[in-house]
Amino acid sequence: MGRLIVTDRDAGSQEIDAIEGESLMVVIRDAGLGIAAICGGQCACGTCHCLIHPAWFGKLPAAKEDEIALVESLEYFEAGRSRLTCQIIFNNRLDGLALSIAPEE
Ligand code: FES
Repeated sequence: MGRLIVTDRDAGSQEIDAIEGESLMVVIRDAGLGIAAICGGQCACGTCHCLIHPAWFGKLPAAKEDEIALVESLEYFEAGRSRLTCQIIFNNRLDGLALSIAPEE
């Protein structure tokens, strides 16, 4: 068990519990913080887009080509911050990871 620090679209910051082996998308969605994740984690919709705190971005596993292609096509893409949370699996090295939910596409 660890935690994520999530800033929602109303700029409120919350700490939520995260279980090792779950995707960040599942953790955030199940906490009711407003990501749609309409493709269910298939790297096909972009509605799980989050902006990673810069201090954490380089600590994440590298994005695969399909994630890069999709995330770079999103309106609110930010280089050095944007990731699709369905493509990141939580582990205890990510305890305390801070991110913001991206604006709705
Ligand atoms: S849930 Fe659709 S791309 Fe992540």
